[in-house]
Amino acid sequence: MKQKDLLLKKPENPPRHVAIIMDGNGRWALKRGLPRVAGHKAGVDSLVSCVEACSAWGIEVLTVYAFSTENWGRPRDEVTFLMHLLEEAFDRYIDRLHANGVMVRVIGRRTGLPESTTRHIEHAERLTAGNTGLRLLIAFNYGGRAELVDGVKALCARVARGELSPEAIDEECLSAHLTTAGFPDPDLLIRTGGEFRISNFLLWQLAYTELYITDVFWPDFRAQQLHQALMEFQKRQRRFGKV
Ligand code: IPE
Ligand code: IPE
Ligand code: MG
Repeated sequence: MKQKDLLLKKPENPPRHVAIIMDGNGRWALKRGLPRVAGHKAGVDSLVSCVEACSAWGIEVLTVYAFSTENWGRPRDEVTFLMHLLEEAFDRYIDRLHANGVMVRVIGRRTGLPESTTRHIEHAERLTAGNTGLRLLIAFNYGGRAELVDGVKALCARVARGELSPEAIDEECLSAHLTTAGFPDPDLLIRTGGEFRISNFLLWQLAYTELYITDVFWPDFRAQQLHQALMEFQKRQRRFGKV
């Protein structure tokens, strides 16, 4: 089905928040005899397709894992490519996202990023801050443990300054000190590329999220595949520990 027709096929009761581990770019490329980075490049088109679909289907928040704190351990050329790819993607698509009312926020540590990458991120966030459509969170230089460490540090600093008593720290309070403060927890986590693991993504926020894992590599995952995942989500019975 064409993207245009698919966008009209809004699934019933869509999740409020979808999170995606966009994995399998390297394997997609190798299968075609291409360098790994060709897979990352093709993956941008998948993201554009999924963002459009989420907007059309009334999903409130889409969080995508684009670069983990562990991904610094990859060959330097690949890391550099991924930094540039984020910049290029913003150069190419930020005006379109803005015109479509998408609010873009990048979550993850800002320290250690090239200055030009930080500049692109800040521009995208500033430009789209007032938008009221889909909220797109891009996890970049993100790690769930690093996020928790930073959140706990911020809490400790407030305690040390006498602004907060340790007894007042509850789940809501810790949530409010994470990079996802103010956003609902994901209802659905999609992982492409077939691995059955979380890889340090949203460790706190995924407590009761439904998991959907597909063997499809990220560059082949488009609105059509997202639609399929949402249909599967509709069949899930969420119990949140109750009966
Ligand atoms: C995911 O694809 C993208 C990033 C982690 C940046 P990979 O590059 O991990 O692709 P595979 O898993 O090696 O196929
Ligand atoms: C997870 O994929 C990170 C991103 C998609 C950005 P990885 O490819 O880095 O995860 P592992 O190494 O298979 O756990
Ligand atoms: Mg991978």
